[in-house]
Amino acid sequence: MANQQGSFLTAIDVGSAKTCALVAEVTEAGLRYRGHGVAESRGSRKGVIVELDKAVAAIQKAVEAAEDSAGAAVEHAIIGIGGAHVRGVNSHGGINLGARAREIGRDEIKQAVEKARAIPLPADREVLHLLPQEFILDGQAGVHDPMGMVASRLEVRVHLVTAAASAAQNVITAVNRAGVHVDDTVFEPLAAADSVLRADERELGACLADIGAGSTELIVFVQGAVAYTAVIPIGGDHFTSDLSLGMCTPLVEAETIKKVYGNAIVTLIPEGNEVEVPSVGNRPSRLLPQRLVAEILEPRARELFEMMRENLRHGGMFEACLAGIVLCGGGSRLPGIFDVAESVLRRPVRLSWPTPLAKMPASLAEPEFATVLGMVAYGQRARVARGFQADRWGSKLKTLLVG
Ligand SMILES: Nc1ncnc2c1ncn2[C@@H]1O[C@H](COP(=O)(O)OP(=O)(O)OP(=O)(O)O)[C@@H](O)[C@H]1O
Ligand SMILES: [Mg+2]
Repeated sequence: MANQQGSFLTAIDVGSAKTCALVAEVTEAGLRYRGHGVAESRGSRKGVIVELDKAVAAIQKAVEAAEDSAGAAVEHAIIGIGGAHVRGVNSHGGINLGARAREIGRDEIKQAVEKARAIPLPADREVLHLLPQEFILDGQAGVHDPMGMVASRLEVRVHLVTAAASAAQNVITAVNRAGVHVDDTVFEPLAAADSVLRADERELGACLADIGAGSTELIVFVQGAVAYTAVIPIGGDHFTSDLSLGMCTPLVEAETIKKVYGNAIVTLIPEGNEVEVPSVGNRPSRLLPQRLVAEILEPRARELFEMMRENLRHGGMFEACLAGIVLCGGGSRLPGIFDVAESVLRRPVRLSWPTPLAKMPASLAEPEFATVLGMVAYGQRARVARGFQADRWGSKLKTLLVG
């Protein structure tokens, strides 16, 4: 049976709401869909495994469904890391090459990047990505790939993404216990960007916001490179729990009401519309105005985008997003959220529809699958890069240089 070692690539996204496994085949014409499985997530919250056995069972369920539809065993996978424990920071480092300018090779690039990586990190954090932004040769900035060029000093600016080591390890452990070996880990919005951001947006300056269930993850690209990453601790589940509290209804009912009747703009709902709202305990359900649903959701949506704006401003990135903000993740499906985003952010906003794989069912072309679709694209780029360079460190650097 073909597997990850051969022409198949599998990605597993262990989200707070859903766990999704996607199998793609690498063909000469590009990636082709082979199968997928989705299971309701259990035991993982905001990127952290809280109940290992339940998380393992959800991963197994998604993987088995993916194996059935792909007709192949899943033995290896690339997995996503996300949640509030992830941090991004910019760093800078460099090396002297000698009094006389000389040619820059792979070792010199590696040494310069290692210098940039050498910032003090607490013992419980690990580097998830080391993303070169630009190289500076003898003070001349803006070099994308210095290989083969000459200089007497080589400097590099990088964006470092770090994760809580235990949180990342627990996701790996859960996937391992589900019988799958983890080949690589990727920060989820970095992968999602592969499937939803266009090259011209990355060049001009754009922010991708993945509104998941537990959190909203941000990644900003400027001049084609990752300039900033951040996580905002509000996701779709906060909207649901607001409805549950505000309408005094169980969480599962609140989730359904949100998806069926929800809107982030009160005035988009006609006055007079009513919604049947189940009660808690044995009390009878009530008929409440549909506008009440939006009156509860709108402030939460405003809060999310205000936090996003302040976060980007604080990081010095708000002005840099000239191409605007792109929304993905299940939370971006709430009607009216686009309007709230535009009114708060005052930047062009667009909803994203992930780039489909060949032969992919239409049901996967939804914003909540942007991450898993991007992960197979990222995995393929990493694989191509490994063809150039065998060691894992080098492959990560190369992956991003070719990106
Ligand atoms: N039609 C809809 N309207 C409003 N919200 C929706 C809709 N569909 C999905 N959601 C919300 O999207 C969220 C799930 O999004 P997604 O599947 O991207 O999350 P996840 O990847 O599992 O979580 P995370 O990325 O936070 O780990 C849930 O809060 C869900 O209520
Ligand atoms: Mg997600």
